[in-house]
Amino acid sequence: MKILVTGGAGFIGSNFVRYLIGSHPEHTVINFDKLTYAGNLENLRDIEDLPNYTFVRGDICNRPFLDSLEFDAIIHFAAESHVDRSILDSFPFLQTNVIGTQSLLEVARKRNCRMLHVSTDEVYGSIAQGLFTEASPIEPNSPYAASKASSDLLVRAYHETFGLDVMITRCSNNYGPYQFPEKLIPLVISHAVEGKQIPIYGDGKYVRDWLHVADHCRAIDIVFHKARAGSVYNIGGMNEQMNIEIIGSLLTKLAEKTGLDRNSLFNLLTPVRDRLGHDRRYAIDPSKIERDLGWKPETGFEQGLSETIDWYLANRQWWERIISGDYLDYYKTQYGERFNE
Ligand code: NAD
Ligand code: DAU
Repeated sequence: MKILVTGGAGFIGSNFVRYLIGSHPEHTVINFDKLTYAGNLENLRDIEDLPNYTFVRGDICNRPFLDSLEFDAIIHFAAESHVDRSILDSFPFLQTNVIGTQSLLEVARKRNCRMLHVSTDEVYGSIAQGLFTEASPIEPNSPYAASKASSDLLVRAYHETFGLDVMITRCSNNYGPYQFPEKLIPLVISHAVEGKQIPIYGDGKYVRDWLHVADHCRAIDIVFHKARAGSVYNIGGMNEQMNIEIIGSLLTKLAEKTGLDRNSLFNLLTPVRDRLGHDRRYAIDPSKIERDLGWKPETGFEQGLSETIDWYLANRQWWERIISGDYLDYYKTQYGERFNE
């Protein structure tokens, strides 16, 4: 099968492309990515010359260009993904996450191909107690979450109206290698190493359910290969953590691993104005995917967090090139100035 993976140069997409190529050599992967600020081809340096991998630079909103490509199925990661950016300017979020998804659905409809839509637990909104299931109402609170919820509804509509072979996954917060350093865990590690202030939004007692990106990739693989058309699956680690707990663990482990002074690291913590509309708690019930498809998380949080710190310490140049902006040149040196579209 030739699989079009959208957003394959981002955090989860690049982990997924590497995973898919390693675990399914029978498939060919086309990584289709616009290379926004979040797209980084350096994430895929180690596999870029493999014969069953191709990179195509393009925008998922460009339907004629998508129509001109040859593929048999779509796994759709491409999105504007950062909540804070959606509060500053929601237009790119609506354009890519809603119109881009609609354009992929149209392309899939034309060639009647399977499409897996990668969504998020944020579409359910915030929950004080208990867990969201796949049957919970969609009540998004941020412009990012509203754009993802809109795309989920379009995917559902294309299944109901046209019988399209689609499925939706809704995952909780991911962490692991190649995560862009604007997100909490890589931001804390990089700021701590560089001695920069670490912003804590509000009281820091916000709760997220954290899952290692490798477990998310495995779940997507299983859903893509085994799930029924029209199905929705929550993917989560049953691993709720308050932001201040995670930040505390990161700084303690960093001090142990690097010899940096623990008190000086904790002195970097800086309470800042809270995120507008900040969701208090996300918590999802992953029992459906465990029951139906036999998926379970395999990476324990302590071990996963420790390995993630090791990765960021060993790959300092990777995130320093992002902070300096130098990573943007990699595409030009590898592929020339040409934009495939
Ligand atoms: P990311 O921001 O790291 O990567 C997004 C990728 O999409 C980038 O490579 C970017 O260049 C590309 N892209 C953006 N707009 C595009 C467009 N118009 N056309 C083509 N490519 C475009 O995001 P991520 O954290 O890897 O998230 C991937 C997906 O998983 C998103 O759909 C997100 O909503 C979802 N998700 C993320 C998490 C998480 O914790 N990060 C959790 C659950 C679900
Ligand atoms: O739940 C899944 C979602 O997880 C995905 O759909 C999103 O794409 C992904 O970005 C993530 O969203 P969050 O908003 O939960 O992740 P973020 O890393 O931005 O923030 C995690 C928590 O940490 C949140 O409560 C805000 C807080 N925070 C974040 C940053 C960047 C801080 O306190 N300080 C910070 O500097």
